[in-house]
Amino acid sequence: MDKIIKNGTIITAFDTYKADVAIEGEKVVMIANNIVDDKAEIIDASDKYILPGALDAHTHLEMPFGGTISSDSYEAGTRAAACGGVTTVFDFALQQKGEGIIQTAKRRNELCEPQACVDYAFHVAITDLTTEVLNEFKAAVDFGISSFKVFMVYKKEGLMVDDGVMCKVLKKGKEVGAMIAVHAENPDLIDMRTEEFLIEGKTSAWYHYLSRPEFVEAEADIRAIHWAKSLNTPLYIVHLANKQGMEEVKKARDEGYEIYAETCPQYLHFTSDVYKREDGRNFVCSPPMKGQESQDALWQGIKSGDIATIATDHCPFQSYEKDWGKDDFTKIPNGCMGIENMYPYMLSEANKGRLSFNRVVELCSTNPAKIYGCAPEKGTIAVGSDADIVIYDPNKEFTVSKDNMHSDVDHTIWEGLKLKGYIDTTLSRGRIVFKEGEFLGQPGWGKFLKRKPRA
Ligand code: URP
Ligand code: ZN
Ligand code: ZN
Repeated sequence: MDKIIKNGTIITAFDTYKADVAIEGEKVVMIANNIVDDKAEIIDASDKYILPGALDAHTHLEMPFGGTISSDSYEAGTRAAACGGVTTVFDFALQQKGEGIIQTAKRRNELCEPQACVDYAFHVAITDLTTEVLNEFKAAVDFGISSFKVFMVYKKEGLMVDDGVMCKVLKKGKEVGAMIAVHAENPDLIDMRTEEFLIEGKTSAWYHYLSRPEFVEAEADIRAIHWAKSLNTPLYIVHLANKQGMEEVKKARDEGYEIYAETCPQYLHFTSDVYKREDGRNFVCSPPMKGQESQDALWQGIKSGDIATIATDHCPFQSYEKDWGKDDFTKIPNGCMGIENMYPYMLSEANKGRLSFNRVVELCSTNPAKIYGCAPEKGTIAVGSDADIVIYDPNKEFTVSKDNMHSDVDHTIWEGLKLKGYIDTTLSRGRIVFKEGEFLGQPGWGKFLKRKPRA
């Protein structure tokens, strides 16, 4: 054995118990009381919790978007991930016109592979669905890309697909065992409202929210769910942020449909009021933060089990880029940071009693691993699983500031957030990559995850 984590309390999605965890190479090899091996390095976890590393199923690292490139490189983003207890990152690879799916993944992998500090996977966003691309779905799944994404928005950016394309993707996805994720908002409503606001000289960040309020997102959620039900295909809705959409997800699930909803910490913590702030542009993302009723509905969905996963939608931009939209919200690059904040935020909420630690593990680790084809290697602590482990100190007080974060972004929307408990240590496949505030990993360590198809 190489390492033994001793005296801690293991928390999985299902159990909470005291035991030691023995690691050999990259794997967990034994879980038992009082494991002894004189040659092993001992990691003392007294008064601490031992959790599976989180999987962030939604990131945009060094992604061309909003007239620029999101400001965390694969190195910076995965470094910040490691420091926030995220041991697997799912990044979006955007298909370029005429490109094949595997070609898209390989193009992004060339950038990612030498930089990745934790393990990673790609969802390929389908933007140009030709017959060849449709016929390539099976080969892409065999290659290890078992999820695709479609955008119902971003028409001008060339990312949007229409309902016909979305339906073809849903059908083919089901046939080959791939999960289909959608960004659901109504593009025509957004364009109409934006045009009206600009004519009226209403240009502050608040109008970003009003250009895409609750019903703009809800309509698209309802439409996507309608198609998934009609075609009897699974569906994964990314960054769900509104109450009506949440209700629709619940209804479909109660009827027995395989509909998964992801939400993000920013929707659970902030409301649309942030857009009235002087620095409101820093919070501009799509879909925007919504009103209190929506936030309450999301927390309710977490309680009821209708929210399946939490992910970050990490897509940060530097202040000078956000400033492009100081006087015109349409010029603000859309996206916020959160890769280092998701697990600590959710665990802190558990520590304050809002939900159980087991449920946090389920939402941030076990469920994304299962839904996206990488369980049981990822998403739990069990004999044979990867030693992707977080040691969490429930007694540590932590205040988020850009100075104690590890990404390359010059600000954070989470500035000043006080957390009850914090991550002490992160292990990625048995290697310590974060300890007591310090990043100890290495670019190039993270491996591409070849994921399994859905059964
Ligand atoms: O504002 C966001 N969310 N930017 C990233 C792209 C997306 O829609 O997920
Ligand atoms: Zn999106
Ligand atoms: Zn996104």
